[in-house]
Amino acid sequence: MGIIDGKMISSKVKESITAEVEALKQKTGKTPGLAVVLVGEDPASAVYVRNKNKTCKNVGFQSFENILPADTSEKKLLDLIDELNKDEKVNGILVQLPLPNHIDSQKVLEAINPAKDVDGFHLENVGRLVTGNAAFKPCTPAGIIELLDQYKVEIEGKNAVVLGRSNIVGKPIAFLLLDRNATVTVCHSRTKDLPAVARSADILIAAIGKPKFVTSDMVKDGAVVIDVGINRVDGKLVGDVDYESVSKSASLITPVPGGVGPMTIAMLMVNTLRAFKDSLS
Ligand code: GUN
Repeated sequence: MGIIDGKMISSKVKESITAEVEALKQKTGKTPGLAVVLVGEDPASAVYVRNKNKTCKNVGFQSFENILPADTSEKKLLDLIDELNKDEKVNGILVQLPLPNHIDSQKVLEAINPAKDVDGFHLENVGRLVTGNAAFKPCTPAGIIELLDQYKVEIEGKNAVVLGRSNIVGKPIAFLLLDRNATVTVCHSRTKDLPAVARSADILIAAIGKPKFVTSDMVKDGAVVIDVGINRVDGKLVGDVDYESVSKSASLITPVPGGVGPMTIAMLMVNTLRAFKDSLS
């Protein structure tokens, strides 16, 4: 069994971005900028937003933090997006999800200029992804593909099973794997005999948000297992995979923490740099 070291790969990605940003600054006199918007005080979201800002600074981006109270009106949030859309210093806009219930998330995501939509959640970018013309690949799915590539996991012709059908992970990773010629199955809460389907996977992606849901009886010997789960149990981070038992049969597995998590932020930096470069031309 081998461990997929997301922390190490994410550091490599960030190093290469730092060097490119420095060179571009010299050449253009401009600095890439990312605006992060957080509404409310969800503690997990607050941690993500803090990490995103920190990483921006580390790679040499300008970071614009917008933290709004939980009772912010939808109109006020849309006005802020409009302002960020027009701001030339802002190349990427990320609205941290989930938003409070009184705000229509889809409406907010559609308000972001697709050229600044570094999460890839705008319908235009979703349409591009589905048709194999992705501009911005959603960060977590893009990070998963990067990990598979770095560890030279063959995707073409393999059975890939995705557990979970969220718009943020399950659906987009299914399309990215399909684009790489995997045979893709997406499972969810109504799937019949999910363990049997999971056992058919050469590449198993767990993105359901249930701690230790994937047990060794659901994993074929030699499968590559990617754990997207970040569940807090008794103050500890636990993935969607029962690491202790599954790691015995998997050929490669991502740990939690230190697997997919750090890749999400690294790919956000990749997307922001791309938005910046596109803005120059
Ligand atoms: N909440 C959980 N994952 C994500 C993500 O990738 N982007 C945003 N904006 N919010 C999230």
